[in-house]
Amino acid sequence: MIQYNFPTIIYFGTDALSSLGQQLAVKQHQRLLIVTDAGLVSIGLIEQIQQQIQSFDLETVVFDGVHPNPTEADVEAGVDFYQNGGFDGLIGIGGGSAIDVAKTIRLMAVHPAPLSQYEEAKGGTDLICNPLPPCYAIPTTAGTGSEVGRSSVITLTGSQQKSIFFHPTLIPDIAVLDPTLTTSLPAHLTAATGADAFSHSFETYLVRLQHPMADGIALEGMKMVAQYLPTAVAQGTDLEARGQMLLAATMGATAFQKGLGVIHSMAHPLSTLFDMHHGLANALLLVEGTSFTLERTVETDDTLLLAKLQTVADIFSPQTPVEVTELPQLITDFLRQIGIQSGLYHHGISSESIPALTRLAYQDPCHQNHPFPVTEPEIEAIYHRALGK
Ligand SMILES: [Fe+2]
Repeated sequence: MIQYNFPTIIYFGTDALSSLGQQLAVKQHQRLLIVTDAGLVSIGLIEQIQQQIQSFDLETVVFDGVHPNPTEADVEAGVDFYQNGGFDGLIGIGGGSAIDVAKTIRLMAVHPAPLSQYEEAKGGTDLICNPLPPCYAIPTTAGTGSEVGRSSVITLTGSQQKSIFFHPTLIPDIAVLDPTLTTSLPAHLTAATGADAFSHSFETYLVRLQHPMADGIALEGMKMVAQYLPTAVAQGTDLEARGQMLLAATMGATAFQKGLGVIHSMAHPLSTLFDMHHGLANALLLVEGTSFTLERTVETDDTLLLAKLQTVADIFSPQTPVEVTELPQLITDFLRQIGIQSGLYHHGISSESIPALTRLAYQDPCHQNHPFPVTEPEIEAIYHRALGK
């Protein structure tokens, strides 16, 4: 039995915020907590959103204690804020970090601490039983797709690993995709977050689970990234490209209910150990992760997987026929086009760090959904190849 689930209400367009405001009024919200990071407050984006929402006769208060690669401490501070502020719901505004923290505050506002007991890998999902307060999500990046996801990713205190919290009710009630809110994102972050969106669709498409609906969404998501990310990077104010990338990111996250793969397992410790941006970490592993998968697929003559990889290669070369073996080079060219400097070495990672990275990546659950089992030495070898000295 497989459960198919695509439940999020999405408001898309340059007037999506006022639709959210109307809906919040219909739901009779009075006081909502905005969960975000200090950077978005400082550029005035949060105030702009507050003004639009508050015109519908409700109050919003800002908690801006979210850090990149968010931690349990961020969540605890937010829960404290929420429980003592007389709020009747939350709005996560920002990248995946802010939205994940909002979702986790939502969880912990009505469940006893500690957060660690709810970790999915430890069977904690079954302990999530109380009705959660309403939560809305407004992404300002096009990457994680957390606005349509049923999980949040938080680093627990004293841990060097990202922990996943999963429950169907963690999914935001409404996701607002307004391309004007992403136009101020700098080119390098547009590229990195877009690479994350691509990685979600790509990795989940390769997962062997029978899920044609997710596969269809993932394929279209990859096509949209290939078509629109270069424009979103080069011309940040292009609303069509920004809008299509927002949709591509939600599609990646909608699809990846199938699972991810070794690239995400290897990206996670680069963030927990070195605070590397999650999207950049995925981007820097995409080529060697793909080469590894392709080599094994050819070796084992796995025709089904080979056909999928060929489909992805064709997405990057829609006009000219290409061989499947060209896929790593096609991805390399694409990453270069969006301005990502390849090689972990160029981003402060040295070979001395690889044993620690490997240990954590192997413990990360994502690679268990890779289309074939991946060993610890294989992960180590991929890191070495991705160093790029
Ligand atoms: Fe990701």
